[in-house]
Amino acid sequence: MEVRILDLTRQYEIIKDEVEKAVLSQMAGGQYIMGAAVAEFEKSFAEYAGVKHAIAVNSGTDSLVIALRAAGVKAGDEVITTPFTFFATAETVAAVGAVPVFADVDADTYNLDPAKVEEKITEKTRAILPVHIFGQPADMDGIKAIAKKHNLFVIEDACQAVGAEYKGAKAGAIGDFGCFSFFPTKNLGAFGDGGMITTNDDDLAVICRALREHGMAQNGAKARFLLDGVKDDLEGTVSPDGLYNPYKYYNYLIAYNSRLDAIQAVILSIKLKYLESFNANRKKIAEYYNQALGGLTDIKIPHVSEDVTPVWHQYAFRCSHKDEIGMFLSSKGVGSAAFYPVPLHLQKAFSYLGYKEGDLPVAETLTKETVCLPIFPELREDELEYVVRCVREFYQ
Ligand SMILES: Cc1ncc(COP(=O)(O)O)c(C=O)c1O
Repeated sequence: MEVRILDLTRQYEIIKDEVEKAVLSQMAGGQYIMGAAVAEFEKSFAEYAGVKHAIAVNSGTDSLVIALRAAGVKAGDEVITTPFTFFATAETVAAVGAVPVFADVDADTYNLDPAKVEEKITEKTRAILPVHIFGQPADMDGIKAIAKKHNLFVIEDACQAVGAEYKGAKAGAIGDFGCFSFFPTKNLGAFGDGGMITTNDDDLAVICRALREHGMAQNGAKARFLLDGVKDDLEGTVSPDGLYNPYKYYNYLIAYNSRLDAIQAVILSIKLKYLESFNANRKKIAEYYNQALGGLTDIKIPHVSEDVTPVWHQYAFRCSHKDEIGMFLSSKGVGSAAFYPVPLHLQKAFSYLGYKEGDLPVAETLTKETVCLPIFPELREDELEYVVRCVREFYQ
């Protein structure tokens, strides 16, 4: 039997009719970037996440860059984050000219340890960037308490955690900003790249809207005032046929093109309706693995903290034979993954920061011990049973 780590074609079969109809109609309508479809998706996403504003962008990476810029993070500032995450989390900090400062993680949840965060605070710290890794929310009370004490922004990297909850609040609705990815493999995946920023703050929302589109027009002028304190008179030229926003070609900030395609928005709007049931299936799979693998002495099944509802973006257990299990499963036709093989502080791209092996021992151990098994909503029971049989066979 072959069990892939992820098979997106199955989900496509479920939503095919709805999606194909909506995409064809969007194509015929002639609006391809932003427009009503994106506005509608932003509205339903904001409602779902329980936030005031949702600003659609081109990727999860862009959502982080724009949130960091909107928080006023700039060259010389420090942002404290986790080393046990996808590269983009810290890459974006460096991309806006700031310094990523890595704090170690909790050995059970794999998420930022607030006590370790506090040790890294300096007068240059501007923000804390927790990641809800593998779909489990970080200790947000602990992180928010530190942020409050030191007057810092909290930017949640919720790229893997759409729908997850912390004490009843949705991931992305707890900090100053929530950042989401719609990369196809995510729990809410587009048919291409996409992302979203959430915030409850009206001014931060305006800045994000300005930054995603060249810092122009009304949002651009307002954002320049909010970020730099510069008050400009709004400039504009009336377009004779009324096609363009008269303020469009006047720019106030150096920003980005990070708009979402309308086709992605209609697909995501459809998939958002299924998200809760897709996440419920992931939960069942995780429970099955927990039950079936919990008795194996070498395996430490994932720990779920009190007060959180994870969305099981990955099922990652710890063991002492990571590479051997991966190879054995592969020989049996079972896909697995090693998220993450290198902690970010030891990535070559961050060698200029001067970290060395041993600096963040928990994250370093996790990269040597975590194995991710197939987990996607359409995984069949016979496949699950086969995966578990293969893991058990390895230990025999
Ligand atoms: C934790 C985390 N942060 C950021 C990103 C970046 O998102 P994207 O690939 O949409 O740019 C991802 C996903 O790839 C991620 O898993």
